[in-house]
Amino acid sequence: MKNYRLNLIPGDGIGVDVINEGVRVLNVLAEKHGGIKFEYNTLPWSCAYYLEHGRMMPADGMEILRDCDSILLGAVGFPGVPDHVSLRDLLLPIRTGFDQYVNMRPIKLLPGLNSPLKNDKIDFVVIRENSEGEYCGQGETTDEKSIQNAIFTRKGTERIIRYAFEYAKANNMNKVLSATKSNALNHSMVFWDKIFDEVRARYGNMESSQMHIDALAGFFIMHPERLQVVVASNLFGDILTDLGSAMLGSIGISPSGNINPEGKYPSMFEPIHGSAPDIAGKGIANPVGTFWAIAMMLEQLKENASADLLMDAICAVLKEGKFVTPDIGGKATTTEMTDAVIAGIKG
Ligand code: NAI
Ligand code: MG
Repeated sequence: MKNYRLNLIPGDGIGVDVINEGVRVLNVLAEKHGGIKFEYNTLPWSCAYYLEHGRMMPADGMEILRDCDSILLGAVGFPGVPDHVSLRDLLLPIRTGFDQYVNMRPIKLLPGLNSPLKNDKIDFVVIRENSEGEYCGQGETTDEKSIQNAIFTRKGTERIIRYAFEYAKANNMNKVLSATKSNALNHSMVFWDKIFDEVRARYGNMESSQMHIDALAGFFIMHPERLQVVVASNLFGDILTDLGSAMLGSIGISPSGNINPEGKYPSMFEPIHGSAPDIAGKGIANPVGTFWAIAMMLEQLKENASADLLMDAICAVLKEGKFVTPDIGGKATTTEMTDAVIAGIKG
């Protein structure tokens, strides 16, 4: 019996619902497999925790978190605690502290999903830099002026761009597109472009190009069929992937893998959406982003058969359309949709 130890951070709002349902799905997958087991350590770190303790996680939080095979996160952030506190004191320290420098975000129109676009050929990945850039958190603010710095190092920029090319190569793709804005950002993005040029020279057999982020946002809508691998900075990748998920019909659909490729630290998987305070407590959050994130986690743990089983069950439920949540046109609750996915896994 293989035992996987998972650290869970349900967080706030709908994060709690989707992680609860994720655990149900994982237990059924383990049962079905017969040779694997998941052991959970649920951590209460959230805005509620902050209001009680004055911090988002305990001082030794990172040590507690490190001791596992993988981390699953719902979402953090809730009215009552400023968003920059919840994000900067919990999510970002994990991503940077565990050197999860790759943020992998597949944007794929699964069978059964209805894109708001006329185009249904949507199947690409956004590989987002996840450790520095615009989210480095440095700068200063006075009453009169605020400066927000962005840090792009050679190491950080090169490794994410190289990862994008290697990912394309390993997945039989031949197109890498870099998101830039070097017309206006005369330091950081000129540097990014220069390193992109250096790296792409080593992948001569691959098609590589760059596009300014504003034009690229339009291109996402007009020609998603031409995209394969998009590599982007922390901020650009963040924005592009909410757009990408909306192209699939709901922001509740897309997953996100915060990956430490070297495996020195655990990786963390989460849906791309936030805690959705507007629908929190209503039981109608779409759990697909979380389930898909779980499938990505299973792949990383080399449990591919279970990952495939889960994705097939998700697609079957979407295709049938009978038990889907309101954001994608159904009437089902989060739990009812999960029940349908579980029934599919059980077969
Ligand atoms: P959000 O993603 O929480 O919500 C945006 C809109 O999408 C809302 O109308 C919401 O109801 C809907 N939505 C999101 N997920 C859904 C799902 N699974 N099913 C159905 N509808 C869904 O983004 P927002 O409103 O900007 O942020 C809310 C809070 O979440 C803030 O505190 C923010 O800082 C935090 N946040 C946390 C993230 C994380 O933990 N990784 C990521 C993004 C935001
Ligand atoms: Mg985001």
